[in-house]
Amino acid sequence: MSSKLWGGRFSGKIDPLMEQFNASLRFDQRLWKADIVGSQAYAGALARARLLTEAEAAQIVEGLGQVAEEWASGAFVVAEGDEDIHTANERRLTELIGPVAGKLHTGRSRNDQVATDVRLWLRDQIAVLDDHLRDLIATAAERAAAEIEVLMPGYTHMQPAQPVRWSHWLLSHAWAWRRDADRLEELAVRVDVMPLGSGALAGNPFGIDRAALANDLGFGAISPNSMDAVSDRDFVAEFLFWAALMMLHLSRFAEDLIIYSSREFGFVTLADAYSTGSSLMPQKKNPDALELLRGKSGRVVGHLTGLMTMLKGLPSTYNKDLQEDKEPLFDAVDSLAGALQIAHGVLTTLTIHPAHMTLALAPEMLATDLADYLVRRGVPFREAHHVAGAAVKMAEVQGVPLAELTLEDLQTLHSHFDGDVLAVWDFGHSVEQRDAAGGTSRRAVLAQVDALRAWLAA
Ligand code: ARG
Repeated sequence: MSSKLWGGRFSGKIDPLMEQFNASLRFDQRLWKADIVGSQAYAGALARARLLTEAEAAQIVEGLGQVAEEWASGAFVVAEGDEDIHTANERRLTELIGPVAGKLHTGRSRNDQVATDVRLWLRDQIAVLDDHLRDLIATAAERAAAEIEVLMPGYTHMQPAQPVRWSHWLLSHAWAWRRDADRLEELAVRVDVMPLGSGALAGNPFGIDRAALANDLGFGAISPNSMDAVSDRDFVAEFLFWAALMMLHLSRFAEDLIIYSSREFGFVTLADAYSTGSSLMPQKKNPDALELLRGKSGRVVGHLTGLMTMLKGLPSTYNKDLQEDKEPLFDAVDSLAGALQIAHGVLTTLTIHPAHMTLALAPEMLATDLADYLVRRGVPFREAHHVAGAAVKMAEVQGVPLAELTLEDLQTLHSHFDGDVLAVWDFGHSVEQRDAAGGTSRRAVLAQVDALRAWLAA
């Protein structure tokens, strides 16, 4: 008899290359703990259904505990023919406790087993990623509070647009991350569904109490249809979409900081801990951490695309294609765990240069405020915009900064200009005007900080 778990009907030998091609243990051994926990719970369910005696169940649970210890200590020896984590664990269990191990798989298939294992595993990973993400958001909120006085140019089209608080820029990223956290917490509910007890596709024939089993495994729900349960990888696709979008957000944050850390901007300096030098140019300090955040976003988007393409044409229930769900998922989890912690480290250790930011503020960025001044005196905005544009042009022609036009100059453009117009040429005054909710005034930014703090505390 073949030693394969499914060897009963086979007589020919497998091509060794096919054996390798088919094997997933190399990567799915990461699921060892989930697989053991799932099997121990399943043994309990079999005992409740009287398919195992209490003694047999105890023997299996204990034997699986020993297998787990071997994985944990690194003592587990992979044997030839261990195709995946499920067969490896069962093979080892059989060696340890003998033929009673052969009762564990009663009514179960690797199809419901693997779907359960991946969900159990991902559930734990999501909790870790959520913690990392919350750390990042908390740091952004606290820096925003501490550095509330710092002003910088805000850009559109990468052109200087209007002054903003540095904190407002920082929180603009924090809010994207906050949506990522919401999304992760929402999708976690859909990961938290137990397929076990679905069998290969048609269901479990032995009256397993799936609700009790789900309770033992801490699942929030059981899958309602066995055919769907063994083929559903929506939770992987959804997680990968989350991961891809999260990486996109980190990438855009990184891109801003790469620009701001360039010599030409000089707004921020990255800590040595997150930079590297050049092997050729002694003066270089490169923002590698940020470039890798940007660069790694590509592979995660690729994983989402790869998985969805793999799923697209699958007929109902389990097909071996589904084994290809794991490597992209594992790599995405690893990439995100790394990226979130690196982003957090970068932000925690970043030095800002408020004086350089101030130097980059040009009076032209207050042209809108000049128009707003007229608006407050009853001039229609379209007309006021035109007048402010004419002022910019006049300053250009005179070769002076916009703020150095005299009151008389301005009055040739519009009669509503008065002595108090000079108050417009103040960047602090400008940001304080943007006081509606969500704006860059001190009060409006601190309200954002408070909202994030409250969310973090809840
Ligand atoms: N290693 C397989 C996977 O990851 C386990 C399920 C195998 N099921 C089967 N019918 N061959 O999908």
